Amino acid sequence: MNSVTLNLKGASRSILIAEETGRLSEKEEPNHILRCIGCGREFDPEEVIYTCSSCGDLLTIEYLDISVEEIKESWQTRPISVWRYRELLPILDSTEPVSLGEGGTGLHKCRRLEDHLGLSDIYVKNEGENPTGSFKDRGMTVGVTRALELKMSYVACASTGNTAASLSAYAARSGIRSVILIPAGKVALGKLVQSVAHGAKVIQIRGNFDEALNLIREVCRRERIYLLNSLNPYRLEGQKTLAFELRDQLSPDPPENVIVPVGNAGNISAIWKGFCELKTLGMIEETPRMIGVQAEGAAPIAHAIEENSDVIKPVKNPETVATAIRIGSPVNWKKALRAVRDSGGMVETVSDEEILEAQKLLARYEGIFVEPASAASIAGLKKIVSNGLLDRDERTVCITTGHGLKDPQVILNNFPKPIIVDADIESVKHAIESVDSTIILPV
Ligand code: F0G
Repeated sequence: MNSVTLNLKGASRSILIAEETGRLSEKEEPNHILRCIGCGREFDPEEVIYTCSSCGDLLTIEYLDISVEEIKESWQTRPISVWRYRELLPILDSTEPVSLGEGGTGLHKCRRLEDHLGLSDIYVKNEGENPTGSFKDRGMTVGVTRALELKMSYVACASTGNTAASLSAYAARSGIRSVILIPAGKVALGKLVQSVAHGAKVIQIRGNFDEALNLIREVCRRERIYLLNSLNPYRLEGQKTLAFELRDQLSPDPPENVIVPVGNAGNISAIWKGFCELKTLGMIEETPRMIGVQAEGAAPIAHAIEENSDVIKPVKNPETVATAIRIGSPVNWKKALRAVRDSGGMVETVSDEEILEAQKLLARYEGIFVEPASAASIAGLKKIVSNGLLDRDERTVCITTGHGLKDPQVILNNFPKPIIVDADIESVKHAIESVDSTIILPV
């Protein structure tokens, strides 16, 4: 089959329009439409819209007239990165992307971790290798490019830190101004300074992430400011490229399990969408199980799965050391529940202690330094294995979502402090022999 249409509606990619001069010129048509995941209503991509105006549900993007042969050919000519996959991104061919070289992150076979856990086919896809140090860059390159297409002069988000850092950087690169709302005192230092450095308008609120998101949604509804939280389906399109990369990096044997830390639940939904598109296009035979991991103190999706419920009960005062996923009312919960159930997956919860232990494990066994939220995927893997829910030789990819340098304070608080000795050879010798200190930290 050479040509697959991802929905039933066909469309030509260019139309003739009448210009003011009375002449006709060619205008490129979008390659997609928007559709409500609740009532199915279709929306024109010319509209600036985030949720369904009929039923309020989330929107998703559907592509028109995709040729598999064409895709395969052009993907091969481009380096691995978000924009390798541009035929399946909702951006006009004629638009120049706002890019910092996102995607194409390392997929690391973890032999020492495998030995430790008694497994044989474990990989870490390290999203901390993205330009601003988190997976958010995949979404932001597409989201900010879309903002340019819409001729927006402001972009905004609420954030636990990484979305803000990424938005600020891409906004700076594009010349668009950025506004971010963050929970005061709950954003890791590395992330906060990124937004400040890139010149965003940083507003700290006396409230949590869920409150910040409600506020910024209202601001964007009232003003012509483009909202770039994961409620925005264009951002999620960028994030789905992680699934495409896994197919390319693991060819011919794609993963059987993908383990993803879950906060607002956009990423797990996006990655699942990527796998579903590959399957629809006949580019993979099987889709993996999507396994979400939430922190115990912020786990409404895990609870809904456990109770076999079709809705989530928001957690009022979410709490966890993994501040990136300190979210009690994830907006993408419905997409995430579908991703987990349709893929035959699960959602695991992990304690702060397990998260910190996993962070240490990955740093010391594999040389991969990730922030606590990212380590949740490793902690989740460990738990699933000990519960007998994963076979020894299943091909499993843990997504580590953000770099360890984002949150230096957590290391200073939870790892052994480096010692100070006198500047003489005896003291240094004594220190080497007597102290089990494998890390060197600034004091
Ligand atoms: N890991 C990290 C490092 C994150 O920053 C986030 C979310 C997640 C996992 C969860 O991803 O929300 O798509 O389920 N951070 C957002 C932010 C909320 O504002 O930076 P999700």
